[in-house]
Amino acid sequence: MTEATRRIGLSLGADICWPIAYTEIMRTLDLAIPYDGETVRFDIERLSIEPFDLEEHVPHDVVIDRLTHWFNPRREWIKKAILLDDVYVFNNPWSVQSMEKLTTYCAMIRLGLPIPRTWLIPPKEYDEWSHDLHATLRQYGRYFDLGAIGDKLGYPLFMKPYDGGGWRAVSKVDDEEQLREAYEESGTAVMHLQEAILPFDRFVRCIGLGPQTRTVLYDIEAPLHDRYTDERDFLTDDDAALIRDMTLVINAFFAWDFNSCELIHREGAWMPIDYANPCPDSQVTSLHYHFPWVILANIRWSVFAATRRRKQQPMGWRRYFAVVDDEMTLRERLDALLPIVHRRFETEAFEEFCATHLAHLDEVATAWFGSDVARDAVRQKVTALFPEHEVERFTDLFFGRIQTWREREGARA
Ligand SMILES: Nc1ncnc2c1ncn2[C@@H]1O[C@H](COP(=O)(O)OP(=O)(O)OP(=O)(O)O)[C@@H](O)[C@H]1O
Ligand SMILES: [Mg+2]
Repeated sequence: MTEATRRIGLSLGADICWPIAYTEIMRTLDLAIPYDGETVRFDIERLSIEPFDLEEHVPHDVVIDRLTHWFNPRREWIKKAILLDDVYVFNNPWSVQSMEKLTTYCAMIRLGLPIPRTWLIPPKEYDEWSHDLHATLRQYGRYFDLGAIGDKLGYPLFMKPYDGGGWRAVSKVDDEEQLREAYEESGTAVMHLQEAILPFDRFVRCIGLGPQTRTVLYDIEAPLHDRYTDERDFLTDDDAALIRDMTLVINAFFAWDFNSCELIHREGAWMPIDYANPCPDSQVTSLHYHFPWVILANIRWSVFAATRRRKQQPMGWRRYFAVVDDEMTLRERLDALLPIVHRRFETEAFEEFCATHLAHLDEVATAWFGSDVARDAVRQKVTALFPEHEVERFTDLFFGRIQTWREREGARA
Protein backbone atom coordinates (compact mmCIF):
# COMPACT_ATOMS: atom_id res chain seq x y z
CA MET A 1 0.00 0.00 0.00
CA THR A 2 1.22 3.51 -0.71
CA GLU A 3 1.76 5.87 2.15
CA ALA A 4 -0.18 9.11 2.49
CA THR A 5 0.27 11.88 5.02
CA ARG A 6 -2.61 13.88 6.43
CA ARG A 7 -1.60 17.23 7.81
CA ILE A 8 -3.35 18.61 10.86
CA GLY A 9 -2.71 22.28 11.62
CA LEU A 10 -3.12 23.67 15.12
CA SER A 11 -4.22 27.30 15.11
CA LEU A 12 -3.19 28.37 18.59
CA GLY A 13 -3.07 31.43 20.80
CA ALA A 14 -2.32 31.35 24.50
CA ASP A 15 -2.95 27.61 24.57
CA ILE A 16 -0.22 25.75 26.39
CA CYS A 17 -1.22 22.43 27.84
CA TRP A 18 -3.67 20.90 25.39
CA PRO A 19 -1.47 21.16 22.26
CA ILE A 20 1.32 19.40 24.16
CA ALA A 21 -1.04 16.62 25.23
CA TYR A 22 -2.54 16.33 21.76
CA THR A 23 0.80 16.26 19.96
CA GLU A 24 2.57 13.93 22.40
CA ILE A 25 -0.25 11.38 22.43
CA MET A 26 -0.45 11.47 18.63
CA ARG A 27 3.30 10.94 18.46
CA THR A 28 3.13 7.96 20.81
CA LEU A 29 0.20 6.48 18.90
CA ASP A 30 2.20 6.64 15.67
CA LEU A 31 -0.92 5.93 13.66
CA ALA A 32 -0.80 4.16 10.32
CA ILE A 33 -4.42 3.78 9.25
CA PRO A 34 -5.33 1.74 6.19
CA TYR A 35 -7.85 3.81 4.26
CA ASP A 36 -8.96 3.73 0.66
CA GLY A 37 -5.97 1.74 -0.56
CA GLU A 38 -3.42 3.84 1.30
CA THR A 39 -1.66 3.78 4.64
CA VAL A 40 -2.48 7.10 6.24
CA ARG A 41 -0.03 8.78 8.59
CA PHE A 42 -0.37 12.09 10.41
CA ASP A 43 1.71 15.19 10.65
CA ILE A 44 0.87 17.79 13.30
CA GLU A 45 1.99 21.36 12.80
CA ARG A 46 1.54 24.58 14.77
CA LEU A 47 0.44 27.27 12.32
CA SER A 48 2.42 30.47 12.27
CA ILE A 49 1.00 33.92 11.61
CA GLU A 50 2.38 35.69 8.57
CA PRO A 51 1.32 37.53 5.41
CA PHE A 52 -0.32 35.33 2.82
CA ASP A 53 -1.16 35.49 -0.86
CA LEU A 54 -4.85 34.87 -1.41
CA GLU A 55 -4.01 32.49 -4.23
CA GLU A 56 -1.59 30.42 -2.19
CA HIS A 57 -2.64 26.84 -1.50
CA VAL A 58 -2.15 25.18 1.87
CA PRO A 59 -1.28 21.53 2.44
CA HIS A 60 -3.50 20.91 5.47
CA ASP A 61 -6.40 18.49 5.64
CA VAL A 62 -7.73 19.61 9.01
CA VAL A 63 -7.23 22.72 11.12
CA ILE A 64 -8.12 22.77 14.80
CA ASP A 65 -8.72 26.42 15.46
CA ARG A 66 -8.58 28.43 18.68
CA LEU A 67 -8.28 31.93 17.22
CA THR A 68 -11.12 32.68 14.83
CA HIS A 69 -13.42 34.25 17.40
CA TRP A 70 -11.00 37.06 18.17
CA PHE A 71 -8.04 37.10 15.77
CA ASN A 72 -9.19 38.23 12.34
CA PRO A 73 -6.04 37.50 10.27
CA ARG A 74 -6.30 33.83 11.27
CA ARG A 75 -10.04 33.75 10.62
CA GLU A 76 -9.60 35.12 7.11
CA TRP A 77 -6.71 32.71 6.43
CA ILE A 78 -8.99 29.88 7.47
CA LYS A 79 -11.77 31.04 5.18
CA LYS A 80 -9.30 31.07 2.31
CA ALA A 81 -8.08 27.59 3.21
CA ILE A 82 -11.64 26.27 3.14
CA LEU A 83 -12.54 27.99 -0.13
CA LEU A 84 -9.36 27.21 -2.02
CA ASP A 85 -8.30 23.90 -0.58
CA ASP A 86 -11.33 22.32 1.09
CA VAL A 87 -9.55 22.22 4.43
CA TYR A 88 -11.83 20.96 7.19
CA VAL A 89 -11.76 23.38 10.10
CA PHE A 90 -13.40 23.18 13.42
CA ASN A 91 -15.21 25.32 13.98
CA ASN A 92 -16.76 26.76 10.81
CA PRO A 93 -15.38 30.36 10.80
CA TRP A 94 -18.44 31.98 9.19
CA SER A 95 -20.65 30.47 11.81
CA VAL A 96 -18.36 31.51 14.65
CA GLN A 97 -18.21 35.04 13.28
CA SER A 98 -21.90 35.62 12.91
CA MET A 99 -23.85 33.44 15.33
CA GLU A 100 -24.23 35.29 18.58
CA LYS A 101 -26.36 34.40 21.57
CA LEU A 102 -29.40 36.04 19.98
CA THR A 103 -29.23 33.93 16.82
CA THR A 104 -28.85 30.78 18.84
CA TYR A 105 -31.84 31.61 21.04
CA CYS A 106 -34.03 32.35 18.01
CA ALA A 107 -33.04 29.18 16.18
CA MET A 108 -33.73 27.00 19.17
CA ILE A 109 -37.04 28.78 19.87
CA ARG A 110 -37.97 27.82 16.31
CA LEU A 111 -37.01 24.20 16.96
CA GLY A 112 -39.01 24.22 20.19
CA LEU A 113 -36.27 23.96 22.82
CA PRO A 114 -37.16 25.51 26.19
CA ILE A 115 -35.36 28.85 25.97
CA PRO A 116 -35.87 31.51 28.68
CA ARG A 117 -37.96 34.45 27.49
CA THR A 118 -35.60 37.13 26.19
CA TRP A 119 -35.88 40.68 24.84
CA LEU A 120 -33.33 42.76 23.00
CA ILE A 121 -33.09 46.47 23.81
CA PRO A 122 -31.29 49.17 21.79
CA PRO A 123 -28.12 50.52 23.41
CA LYS A 124 -28.18 53.35 25.92
CA GLU A 125 -25.33 55.20 24.22
CA TYR A 126 -23.54 55.32 20.89
CA ASP A 127 -19.84 55.77 20.24
CA GLU A 128 -20.11 58.31 17.49
CA TRP A 129 -23.06 60.49 16.54
CA SER A 130 -22.61 60.38 12.78
CA HIS A 131 -25.03 62.11 10.44
CA ASP A 132 -26.64 58.81 9.50
CA LEU A 133 -27.09 57.75 13.10
CA HIS A 134 -28.80 61.07 13.91
CA ALA A 135 -31.13 60.73 10.95
CA THR A 136 -31.90 57.10 11.71
CA LEU A 137 -32.71 57.54 15.38
CA ARG A 138 -34.59 60.78 14.87
CA GLN A 139 -36.90 59.13 12.38
CA TYR A 140 -37.16 55.61 13.68
CA GLY A 141 -35.92 55.40 17.27
CA ARG A 142 -38.92 55.02 19.58
CA TYR A 143 -38.97 55.90 23.25
CA PHE A 144 -39.72 52.77 25.15
CA ASP A 145 -40.72 51.91 28.67
CA LEU A 146 -37.97 49.79 30.15
CA GLY A 147 -40.06 49.16 33.27
CA ALA A 148 -42.87 47.67 31.18
CA ILE A 149 -40.45 45.16 29.61
CA GLY A 150 -39.17 44.32 33.09
CA ASP A 151 -42.75 43.73 34.24
CA LYS A 152 -43.41 41.45 31.28
CA LEU A 153 -40.38 39.32 32.05
CA GLY A 154 -40.77 39.50 35.83
CA TYR A 155 -38.00 39.81 38.43
CA PRO A 156 -35.32 38.76 38.95
CA LEU A 157 -34.05 38.96 35.41
CA PHE A 158 -30.63 39.03 33.76
CA MET A 159 -29.23 41.85 31.69
CA LYS A 160 -26.41 40.61 29.47
CA PRO A 161 -24.93 41.42 26.06
CA TYR A 162 -26.67 39.82 23.07
CA ASP A 163 -23.22 38.68 21.94
CA GLY A 164 -21.75 37.97 25.36
CA GLY A 165 -18.92 35.82 26.58
CA GLY A 166 -16.72 35.48 29.64
CA TRP A 167 -19.38 36.81 32.01
CA ARG A 168 -18.80 40.30 30.58
CA ALA A 169 -21.41 42.87 31.68
CA VAL A 170 -23.79 40.23 33.04
CA SER A 171 -25.98 41.49 35.87
CA LYS A 172 -28.82 40.07 37.88
CA VAL A 173 -31.58 42.60 38.30
CA ASP A 174 -34.09 42.36 41.16
CA ASP A 175 -36.46 45.25 40.52
CA GLU A 176 -37.24 48.16 38.23
CA GLU A 177 -34.84 50.53 39.96
CA GLN A 178 -31.94 48.14 39.44
CA LEU A 179 -33.04 47.60 35.86
CA ARG A 180 -32.85 51.32 35.14
CA GLU A 181 -29.48 51.55 36.86
CA ALA A 182 -28.11 48.58 34.90
CA TYR A 183 -29.32 50.12 31.64
CA GLU A 184 -27.68 53.46 32.49
CA GLU A 185 -24.43 51.62 33.06
CA SER A 186 -24.64 49.44 29.97
CA GLY A 187 -23.16 52.16 27.72
CA THR A 188 -22.86 51.19 24.08
CA ALA A 189 -23.46 47.46 24.59
CA VAL A 190 -26.54 45.95 22.95
CA MET A 191 -28.28 44.10 25.74
CA HIS A 192 -30.62 41.23 26.27
CA LEU A 193 -33.06 41.19 29.13
CA GLN A 194 -33.71 37.60 30.05
CA GLU A 195 -36.06 35.87 32.44
CA ALA A 196 -33.94 34.46 35.30
CA ILE A 197 -34.14 30.74 35.80
CA LEU A 198 -33.80 31.03 39.56
CA PRO A 199 -33.60 29.40 41.96
CA PHE A 200 -32.24 26.37 40.15
CA ASP A 201 -31.14 23.06 41.55
CA ARG A 202 -28.47 22.09 39.01
CA PHE A 203 -26.28 23.79 36.42
CA VAL A 204 -24.42 21.77 33.80
CA ARG A 205 -22.06 22.33 30.94
CA CYS A 206 -22.26 19.82 28.15
CA ILE A 207 -19.12 19.81 26.01
CA GLY A 208 -19.54 18.53 22.46
CA LEU A 209 -16.78 17.46 20.10
CA GLY A 210 -18.27 16.15 16.86
CA PRO A 211 -20.79 13.52 17.91
CA GLN A 212 -19.11 13.05 21.31
CA THR A 213 -20.46 14.78 24.41
CA ARG A 214 -19.62 15.01 28.07
CA THR A 215 -21.92 16.61 30.62
CA VAL A 216 -20.25 18.16 33.64
CA LEU A 217 -21.94 19.33 36.81
CA TYR A 218 -20.87 22.94 37.13
CA ASP A 219 -20.69 24.94 40.36
CA ILE A 220 -21.07 28.61 39.39
CA GLU A 221 -20.25 29.83 42.90
CA ALA A 222 -16.93 28.01 43.27
CA PRO A 223 -13.57 29.62 42.45
CA LEU A 224 -12.58 29.14 38.79
CA HIS A 225 -10.44 26.05 39.39
CA ASP A 226 -13.30 24.26 41.17
CA ARG A 227 -16.25 25.06 38.91
CA TYR A 228 -16.08 21.89 36.83
CA THR A 229 -16.89 19.28 39.45
CA ASP A 230 -15.78 15.67 39.12
CA GLU A 231 -19.19 14.20 39.98
CA ARG A 232 -20.33 11.66 37.43
CA ASP A 233 -23.61 10.16 38.65
CA PHE A 234 -25.86 13.18 38.93
CA LEU A 235 -28.31 12.54 36.08
CA THR A 236 -31.00 9.99 35.34
CA ASP A 237 -30.53 8.23 32.01
CA ASP A 238 -33.41 10.21 30.53
CA ASP A 239 -31.99 13.54 31.61
CA ALA A 240 -28.50 12.60 30.42
CA ALA A 241 -29.94 11.73 27.00
CA LEU A 242 -31.99 14.94 26.88
CA ILE A 243 -28.96 17.13 27.61
CA ARG A 244 -26.76 15.20 25.19
CA ASP A 245 -29.32 15.42 22.41
CA MET A 246 -30.08 19.12 22.89
CA THR A 247 -26.35 19.82 22.73
CA LEU A 248 -25.90 17.73 19.59
CA VAL A 249 -28.81 19.46 17.88
CA ILE A 250 -27.37 22.87 18.72
CA ASN A 251 -23.86 21.96 17.60
CA ALA A 252 -24.95 20.33 14.37
CA PHE A 253 -27.35 23.16 13.56
CA PHE A 254 -24.60 25.80 13.85
CA ALA A 255 -21.75 23.67 12.40
CA TRP A 256 -19.88 23.84 15.68
CA ASP A 257 -17.79 20.72 16.06
CA PHE A 258 -16.49 21.95 19.39
CA ASN A 259 -18.90 23.85 21.62
CA SER A 260 -20.18 23.93 25.14
CA CYS A 261 -23.81 24.23 26.14
CA GLU A 262 -24.92 25.56 29.53
CA LEU A 263 -28.20 24.27 30.91
CA ILE A 264 -30.09 24.99 34.09
CA HIS A 265 -32.44 22.58 35.80
CA ARG A 266 -35.49 24.02 37.52
CA GLU A 267 -38.79 22.45 38.46
CA GLY A 268 -38.11 19.25 36.56
CA ALA A 269 -37.06 20.90 33.29
CA TRP A 270 -33.66 21.51 31.68
CA MET A 271 -33.31 24.88 29.95
CA PRO A 272 -30.36 25.79 27.74
CA ILE A 273 -29.36 29.35 28.73
CA ASP A 274 -26.04 29.90 26.99
CA TYR A 275 -24.84 27.76 24.15
CA ALA A 276 -23.07 30.14 21.79
CA ASN A 277 -19.66 29.07 23.06
CA PRO A 278 -17.82 27.68 20.05
CA CYS A 279 -14.19 27.15 20.88
CA PRO A 280 -14.87 26.62 24.59
CA ASP A 281 -12.44 26.62 27.47
CA SER A 282 -9.80 23.94 26.92
CA GLN A 283 -7.47 24.81 29.78
CA VAL A 284 -6.31 22.20 32.18
CA THR A 285 -6.61 24.80 34.93
CA SER A 286 -10.37 24.82 34.58
CA LEU A 287 -11.10 21.39 33.10
CA HIS A 288 -8.57 19.37 35.18
CA TYR A 289 -10.40 16.03 35.77
CA HIS A 290 -12.20 16.38 32.40
CA PHE A 291 -9.13 17.53 30.48
CA PRO A 292 -8.17 14.03 29.23
CA TRP A 293 -11.69 13.53 27.87
CA VAL A 294 -11.39 16.70 25.76
CA ILE A 295 -7.97 15.65 24.44
CA LEU A 296 -9.16 12.16 23.53
CA ALA A 297 -12.34 13.44 21.91
CA ASN A 298 -10.29 15.94 19.94
CA ILE A 299 -7.85 13.29 18.72
CA ARG A 300 -10.66 10.95 17.67
CA TRP A 301 -12.61 13.59 15.80
CA SER A 302 -9.63 15.24 14.08
CA VAL A 303 -8.09 11.92 13.02
CA PHE A 304 -11.44 10.77 11.65
CA ALA A 305 -11.93 14.06 9.78
CA ALA A 306 -8.37 14.09 8.42
CA THR A 307 -8.34 10.44 7.33
CA ARG A 308 -11.58 10.80 5.42
CA ARG A 309 -10.79 14.31 4.22
CA ARG A 310 -14.05 15.57 5.66
CA LYS A 311 -15.43 18.71 3.99
CA GLN A 312 -17.38 21.69 5.28
CA GLN A 313 -21.08 21.25 4.66
CA PRO A 314 -23.82 23.79 4.06
CA MET A 315 -25.88 24.60 7.14
CA GLY A 316 -29.15 23.33 5.65
CA TRP A 317 -31.41 24.82 8.33
CA ARG A 318 -34.63 24.10 6.41
CA ARG A 319 -34.13 20.37 7.00
CA TYR A 320 -34.28 20.94 10.76
CA PHE A 321 -37.33 23.20 10.58
CA ALA A 322 -39.14 20.70 8.38
CA VAL A 323 -39.18 17.81 10.87
CA VAL A 324 -40.62 19.58 13.94
CA ASP A 325 -44.16 20.76 14.56
CA ASP A 326 -46.05 22.52 17.33
CA GLU A 327 -47.70 19.40 18.69
CA MET A 328 -44.47 17.61 19.55
CA THR A 329 -43.01 17.20 23.02
CA LEU A 330 -39.36 18.11 23.52
CA ARG A 331 -38.35 14.45 23.40
CA GLU A 332 -40.28 13.93 20.17
CA ARG A 333 -38.63 16.96 18.60
CA LEU A 334 -35.18 15.74 19.49
CA ASP A 335 -35.95 12.28 18.15
CA ALA A 336 -37.11 13.83 14.89
CA LEU A 337 -33.98 16.00 14.66
CA LEU A 338 -31.36 13.42 15.62
CA PRO A 339 -31.21 11.60 12.28
CA ILE A 340 -30.18 14.91 10.65
CA VAL A 341 -27.63 15.49 13.39
CA HIS A 342 -26.10 12.04 13.09
CA ARG A 343 -25.96 12.25 9.32
CA ARG A 344 -24.11 15.52 9.65
CA PHE A 345 -21.63 14.14 12.18
CA GLU A 346 -21.43 10.74 10.42
CA THR A 347 -21.85 9.24 13.86
CA GLU A 348 -22.10 5.63 12.80
CA ALA A 349 -19.04 5.76 10.56
CA PHE A 350 -17.17 7.66 13.28
CA GLU A 351 -17.89 5.05 15.92
CA GLU A 352 -16.86 2.24 13.63
CA PHE A 353 -13.69 4.13 12.70
CA CYS A 354 -12.75 4.61 16.36
CA ALA A 355 -13.41 0.96 17.20
CA THR A 356 -11.30 -0.21 14.25
CA HIS A 357 -8.42 2.26 14.19
CA LEU A 358 -8.24 3.94 17.58
CA ALA A 359 -8.92 1.07 19.95
CA HIS A 360 -5.51 1.55 21.60
CA LEU A 361 -5.97 5.29 22.15
CA ASP A 362 -7.34 4.97 25.69
CA GLU A 363 -4.46 2.86 26.82
CA VAL A 364 -1.79 5.10 25.28
CA ALA A 365 -3.45 8.23 26.67
CA THR A 366 -3.96 6.77 30.14
CA ALA A 367 -0.25 5.99 30.32
CA TRP A 368 0.74 9.40 28.94
CA PHE A 369 -1.40 11.32 31.45
CA GLY A 370 0.64 9.71 34.23
CA SER A 371 3.98 10.75 32.74
CA ASP A 372 6.47 13.44 33.74
CA VAL A 373 5.88 15.15 30.39
CA ALA A 374 2.18 15.42 31.22
CA ARG A 375 2.96 16.83 34.64
CA ASP A 376 5.34 19.33 33.10
CA ALA A 377 2.67 20.41 30.59
CA VAL A 378 0.28 21.10 33.48
CA ARG A 379 3.02 22.97 35.28
CA GLN A 380 3.69 25.17 32.24
CA LYS A 381 0.04 26.22 32.12
CA VAL A 382 -0.11 26.83 35.86
CA THR A 383 3.08 28.89 35.69
CA ALA A 384 1.51 31.09 33.02
CA LEU A 385 -1.58 31.82 35.13
CA PHE A 386 -0.72 31.62 38.83
CA PRO A 387 1.63 33.60 41.07
CA GLU A 388 4.96 31.89 41.65
CA HIS A 389 4.28 30.80 45.23
CA GLU A 390 1.14 28.90 44.10
CA VAL A 391 2.64 27.05 41.14
CA GLU A 392 3.64 23.90 43.02
CA ARG A 393 0.36 23.60 44.87
CA PHE A 394 -1.85 24.07 41.82
CA THR A 395 0.29 21.82 39.63
CA ASP A 396 -0.20 19.10 42.23
CA LEU A 397 -3.91 19.81 42.43
CA PHE A 398 -4.61 19.66 38.68
CA PHE A 399 -2.22 16.80 37.96
CA GLY A 400 -3.73 14.94 40.94
CA ARG A 401 -7.22 15.32 39.47
CA ILE A 402 -5.96 13.91 36.17
CA GLN A 403 -4.62 10.93 38.12
CA THR A 404 -8.11 10.48 39.60
CA TRP A 405 -9.43 10.40 36.02
CA ARG A 406 -6.85 7.71 35.16
CA GLU A 407 -7.95 5.60 38.10
CA ARG A 408 -11.68 6.03 37.57
CA GLU A 409 -12.04 6.29 33.81
CA GLY A 410 -8.72 5.47 32.18
CA ALA A 411 -7.94 2.20 30.42
CA ARG A 412 -7.20 -0.66 32.80
CA ALA A 413 -3.60 -1.72 32.48
N1 LIG B 1 -31.49 33.37 32.43
C1 LIG B 1 -30.64 33.07 33.41
N2 LIG B 1 -31.09 32.45 34.53
C2 LIG B 1 -30.25 32.16 35.54
N3 LIG B 1 -28.94 32.45 35.54
C3 LIG B 1 -28.45 33.08 34.46
C4 LIG B 1 -29.26 33.41 33.35
N4 LIG B 1 -28.50 34.04 32.43
C5 LIG B 1 -27.26 34.09 32.95
N5 LIG B 1 -27.22 33.53 34.18
C6 LIG B 1 -26.04 33.41 35.05
O1 LIG B 1 -25.03 34.29 34.60
C7 LIG B 1 -23.90 33.55 34.11
C8 LIG B 1 -23.33 34.22 32.87
O2 LIG B 1 -24.32 34.30 31.87
P1 LIG B 1 -24.03 33.79 30.40
O3 LIG B 1 -23.51 32.42 30.45
O4 LIG B 1 -25.21 34.02 29.56
O5 LIG B 1 -22.88 34.82 29.97
P2 LIG B 1 -21.44 34.59 29.40
O6 LIG B 1 -20.84 35.92 29.29
O7 LIG B 1 -21.55 33.72 28.20
O8 LIG B 1 -20.68 33.77 30.53
P3 LIG B 1 -19.67 32.53 30.36
O9 LIG B 1 -18.60 32.95 29.42
O10 LIG B 1 -19.22 32.29 31.76
O11 LIG B 1 -20.49 31.40 29.83
C9 LIG B 1 -24.42 32.15 33.87
O12 LIG B 1 -23.39 31.21 34.01
C10 LIG B 1 -25.46 32.02 34.97
O13 LIG B 1 -24.85 31.73 36.20
MG1 LIG C 1 -22.22 31.22 29.97
